Amino acid sequence: MPATKPDFSGIIGESEKIKGVLSIVEKILDDDSTILILGESGTGKELIAKAIHYNGKRADKPLIPVNCGAIPEELLESELFGHEKGSFTGAIRTRIGKFELANSGTIFLDEIGDMSPALQVKMLRVLQEQEFERVGGMKSLKVNIRVIAATHRNLEKEVESNKFREDLFYRLNVIPISIPPLRERKSDIPILANHFLLKFNRIKNRNIEGFSDEAMRCLAEYHWPGNVRELENIIERTVILKGKGIVRPADLPEKVQKWNGKPNIHTKDERLVISDNATIEDTSQSPAGITEDGINLNQIVEDFENRLILEALKKTEWNKAKAANLLGIKRTTLIEKLKKKGINRGV
Ligand SMILES: Nc1ncnc2c1ncn2[C@@H]1O[C@H](COP(=O)(O)OP(=O)(O)OP(=O)(O)O)[C@@H](O)[C@H]1O
Ligand SMILES: [Mg+2]
Repeated sequence: MPATKPDFSGIIGESEKIKGVLSIVEKILDDDSTILILGESGTGKELIAKAIHYNGKRADKPLIPVNCGAIPEELLESELFGHEKGSFTGAIRTRIGKFELANSGTIFLDEIGDMSPALQVKMLRVLQEQEFERVGGMKSLKVNIRVIAATHRNLEKEVESNKFREDLFYRLNVIPISIPPLRERKSDIPILANHFLLKFNRIKNRNIEGFSDEAMRCLAEYHWPGNVRELENIIERTVILKGKGIVRPADLPEKVQKWNGKPNIHTKDERLVISDNATIEDTSQSPAGITEDGINLNQIVEDFENRLILEALKKTEWNKAKAANLLGIKRTTLIEKLKKKGINRGV
């Protein structure tokens, strides 16, 4: 047990949402149960996994990460479980796998949603029994490991479409931790932006003094599809290129400058999908007047319409007749609109 309070100082954010994540993390530090970290790309899944390991009782034992999405399927099995000399062409010597390396510590199975069905079966066994064999080996190896898995995929959906084994999902989903996208915790943006500004001033030896109010407003309004990673990259680039003085909107990438409030919608399979959990308040960007760059009237009107439709659907738990009633339109009109906009309950 760590004697001191956990150190989450590397995890920046003051929103209720990030505090909620950290309060769960704090409760499970010294437990051995399997953790499943969920969140869009760049939300900080790896950062949270490290915080769990390095603040827990296994902190002085290894943390072994494996990116299950980046390693070709044929190699992943031997990467995870190791292999015996001669077990396949090219296996010229015995190799220790990540599960053995992680013994008494933590294994971080990143992008577990990308794992092939065949490997999912093997994974289930290791998780259940903490036991496995090297590829081509006969001897069962017993290990004592804490498992932290992460994915940007919606595993429940992957289970529904038979891409992910249901039994493995339930085995992993003991303690799920969902990290909300940055656009749903916009109050974290200023503090993160300033944190990255100081960081890159220091490591890139630059002297940026801060952000103008207008520049900060652009950062706060942008929808950050790449989440904290995207924000970090943009600040790094801005700090390097500008070098000194105050960051103004013109110093930011055009997409950030010009962002004028599109809805919380992302294109998926060329259709629009609105998350059932989308927070309407967070995405509300009322047209605060016409800027010098002009506005996109159609977009803003459509945005407004989408938000009201979404609000009505949420209020009525997606009962379309009731939602249409709240909106003062016919049910068939609502259905037509949903179809045209490609809005469904998905994600
Ligand atoms: N709350 C935060 N405070 C400070 N830095 C953060 C925070 N969240 C994320 N970051 C930084 O953003 C970058 C992306 O985070 P991380 O790699 O943990 O995300 P991820 O969810 O694993 O992304 P991916 O799905 O792309 O692998 C890292 O450089 C990380 O340090
Ligand atoms: Mg990651």
